[in-house]
Amino acid sequence: MKKFLVMSPLLFLFAGCRSDEQVARDNEASSDISITTTSEVKNPDGDGKTLVAYFSHPVGTELDVTTGASVMEVNGEYLGLVEQTANWIADDVKADRFQIQANKVYPDDVGALIGEAIDEKNESQRPELASEIDNFDQYETIYLGYPIWNGDFPMAFYTFLESYDFAGKTVIPFNVHGGSGLAGTVETVNAELPDATVVSNALSISRNNIADSQQEVLDWVEEVRE
Ligand SMILES: Cc1cc2nc3c(=O)[nH]c(=O)nc-3n(C[C@H](O)[C@H](O)[C@H](O)COP(=O)(O)O)c2cc1C
Repeated sequence: MKKFLVMSPLLFLFAGCRSDEQVARDNEASSDISITTTSEVKNPDGDGKTLVAYFSHPVGTELDVTTGASVMEVNGEYLGLVEQTANWIADDVKADRFQIQANKVYPDDVGALIGEAIDEKNESQRPELASEIDNFDQYETIYLGYPIWNGDFPMAFYTFLESYDFAGKTVIPFNVHGGSGLAGTVETVNAELPDATVVSNALSISRNNIADSQQEVLDWVEEVRE
């Protein structure tokens, strides 16, 4: 069974109004946690030339709209919505897949998470990544997946874009969002990767529709591969 969970837009407002004391408490809490994130290129059936690289951060595991959770349960595993989309694409095009993860533990509480992401954005942070791709040169086509965080990429996604040489590669963006659509991110990919060919027909799916969107994703893949 798939569960689909929705984040209240009000949480963005509450997160923006955190007191200094709250920020300090959250920072203290998150710095106490040891790093457990890992990611590596997964290659169940890849062609060695196509990569799906995505940032995805599943929030929550229970069906409760008041928590702001945003996950899908697939075969007993909780996946982020961008991750599920990335899996559909990678299975279809026979791509390697790589999850972009910051080398830090974000707060479980969604309000604190949004607040931390706002702090990262306001300070133009580039969080260190949990792992890297050894053989990036081999990829010719790279599908780039991301959620919208505070009207932008998560800052760790910028770290990824700025860590590799994309010259000569074809880049195909896709995102899942909570109402903001692409939020100008295709233009940002173009600005960040001036030597890549960035496909303008990016896929953008609302999290409210993701559970029923596999066919839309596959149809889009057919379009952008032509
Ligand atoms: C920190 C944070 C900030 C977010 N900011 C926005 C936003 O500005 N606009 C929007 O449409 N959705 C926003 N969202 C919702 C995510 O884009 C949406 O839930 C997306 O599906 C998450 O993908 P994931 O489950 O793969 O991480 C935000 C979510 C988080 C966790």
